[in-house]
Amino acid sequence: MVNTLDSSFVENGPWKPDIFKDKVVFVTGGSGTICRVQTEAMVLLGAHAAIVGRNEAKTIAAAKEMSQLSCSASILPLTKVDVRNFDQLQRAVEKTVEQFGKIDYVIAGAAGNFIADFSHLSPNAFKSVIDIDLLGSFNTVKACFPELVKTKGSVVFVSATLHYSGVPFQSHVGAAKAGVDALSNALAVELGPLGIRCNCIAPGPIEGTEGIKRLLPAGLESRAIEQIPLQRLGTTRDIADSTVYLFSPASSFVNGTVTAVDGGAWHIGSTF
Ligand code: HXC
Repeated sequence: MVNTLDSSFVENGPWKPDIFKDKVVFVTGGSGTICRVQTEAMVLLGAHAAIVGRNEAKTIAAAKEMSQLSCSASILPLTKVDVRNFDQLQRAVEKTVEQFGKIDYVIAGAAGNFIADFSHLSPNAFKSVIDIDLLGSFNTVKACFPELVKTKGSVVFVSATLHYSGVPFQSHVGAAKAGVDALSNALAVELGPLGIRCNCIAPGPIEGTEGIKRLLPAGLESRAIEQIPLQRLGTTRDIADSTVYLFSPASSFVNGTVTAVDGGAWHIGSTF
């Protein structure tokens, strides 16, 4: 399967095993594609994970599958949590702390997107995406903040490269993700003195994701790849590696960055 990791991530990868032993990561969107693999990487390297999702069956199934990855790490599924609802997130944080005692890392990744041209984009459709992607990211960090203060923790927001240029039919997503970058930058400055680091990962075209399926019609893949400076699509593992770096001590002086993981595509105006 393209979008899942196994023990070879540790055995053949650049990361020290157990680098996140006894750490706890809280993830929104953790049963999706990109955030799930980010979580798998953290679990394979020793972290316990709480994964938050709206869909009960999908979240529980993802937690069960991820728990096979490690004998020492535990996965806590927290279901029926909508990131638009701050109270639900606060309860999810409480349950995480009851189970694991703390939160060290947060991945704010829940997103809801679709392709729609402006004339067919209702105010409520625009608001729905802003609320899931941007307000949801705010709510996630807000709910985790008391725990992050205690652990001097670290946040990785999942953004996009869509807003680096004008991508048609994505005005709602571009606006939301530009807001996520701005939120991350501001919090990096505001929370830095508390020892909390905030950074963004902006995935480009990542194979096997919902985004690429929707944005890249079948048959156009090879033409798209030709435009990417590194001449390939990204993988979820590429995003997982960047996530591990941003949570690891190797990035302890890295704060307020947006890391585009897109093979350099945005530099030539090719954004997804
Ligand atoms: C136009 C649409 C639409 C579409 C929904 N709406 N889909 N408008 N084109 N394809 C409108 C609805 O008509 C409604 O407006 C409003 O959006 C809210 O829709 P609901 O279904 O009531 O909202 P909700 O159940 O909260 O669903 C949120 C959602 C949905 C964002 C609309 O798609 C969702 O939950 N998605 C989560 C999964 C997902 O999208 N994952 C992809 C991540 S990929 P009205 O006016 O009728 O009330 C990714 C990478 C980038 O993030 C991908 C780029 C495409």
